[in-house]
Amino acid sequence: MRYKIERTFEYNKDNGPFESVSNKNNKIKKILGKYGVRTDFFGFKTALPIGVAAGTIHNLRYMEASMKDGFELLTWKTFRSEHRLAHRNNGDYLGHNIIFLPSETISKKDMGALRTGYIKQQDTPEFVSVTNSVGMPSPHPLDWVNMVKDGQKLAKKYNKAIITSVVGTARKDDDIFALARDYAFLARFAELAGEKIIELNLSCPNVSGKEGVIYKDIKSSKIIAKTAREALRDKNTKLLLKLGYANKGFYKRFLKATSEFIDGVVAINTIPMKVVDKKGKQALPGGLSSGTCGYAILDRAVEAVENLAKAKKELSLKNVKIIGCGGVTTPDGFMRHINAGAEFVMVATASLFNPQLPLQLAEYLAENKIKKRI
Ligand SMILES: Cc1cc2nc3c(=O)[nH]c(=O)nc-3n(C[C@H](O)[C@H](O)[C@H](O)COP(=O)(O)O)c2cc1C
Repeated sequence: MRYKIERTFEYNKDNGPFESVSNKNNKIKKILGKYGVRTDFFGFKTALPIGVAAGTIHNLRYMEASMKDGFELLTWKTFRSEHRLAHRNNGDYLGHNIIFLPSETISKKDMGALRTGYIKQQDTPEFVSVTNSVGMPSPHPLDWVNMVKDGQKLAKKYNKAIITSVVGTARKDDDIFALARDYAFLARFAELAGEKIIELNLSCPNVSGKEGVIYKDIKSSKIIAKTAREALRDKNTKLLLKLGYANKGFYKRFLKATSEFIDGVVAINTIPMKVVDKKGKQALPGGLSSGTCGYAILDRAVEAVENLAKAKKELSLKNVKIIGCGGVTTPDGFMRHINAGAEFVMVATASLFNPQLPLQLAEYLAENKIKKRI
């Protein structure tokens, strides 16, 4: 485990990652040999298209650990235009930001329902499920700009690719255009720092305020995507949108409105559930609802990727990549996303609680002689 669940997010950020991390990249290459799932991700070529989604890489130590674990595409935890600390213990709560959930699949009708969370891990690392309420903290831009630059040096050293994820901050009395300008500032700032792929997080379910789940508002999402695209100076800078769960009809309308400004979508973010502790009390700071992720959401995430793939096909959109995310804790979960239409697969929960996953995936692809091009 790279994260101490009984401690706060800020503690983990300052002291992690935990457990020693060895560089597995050569071993993975050797195991994989001629097998793998070959992809060309905006010029970055790999046969192991597994990466880390926004959320668990908050400094250079976590960045390097995930690179050493064998993840190929690394996303910075979402940055803001101001410094903000994570939700913290206020005395009533247990003083941590993540807890384990039983890995029982969340069905469509269960979404948003009540679950009990535990400090003790409920399943093996391969089937880990958690819920988190971190609250989208961020370093100040003048601090994260240096992290982004240093991250690029690490990417060169380990031959990896990086995404910078950003979210606008809705300030009092801001209209959608002001929020869009904040997203645009962040996108341009990341581009100035040398980032080539920028992700706009439109789907964090933990934060109250206008930026909460903005992807559900297609008009606003279009304004944000257009304003951010116009702020970018290099026509080769790639722009991605991070979305939550939806049906095909919704994704079709969403892509119709935004596709001219973007190069890809990442789906899904966590699924909000009401989570209590063993005594029935709110389990995490920030509100009764928290973002569920890991194995429990795999079925819903694969469904979302299928819905996106169908929507993309019906609109004949060739240039919008689908990056699958959600519930991947095993090679089987990875293959389900690929078969649903994902062109890269990202994990957050597994990067902390099953960091052996890239190695397990290489072994699986080689053992099953899987040779595929996507
Ligand atoms: C601790 C934690 C923090 C997260 N923070 C962010 C974030 O800052 N921005 C974002 O877009 N998604 C965030 N996520 C969501 C993940 O990127 C991902 O969409 C979700 O966890 C589903 O993937 P998983 O099942 O592999 O965890 C976070 C997830 C976790 C576990």
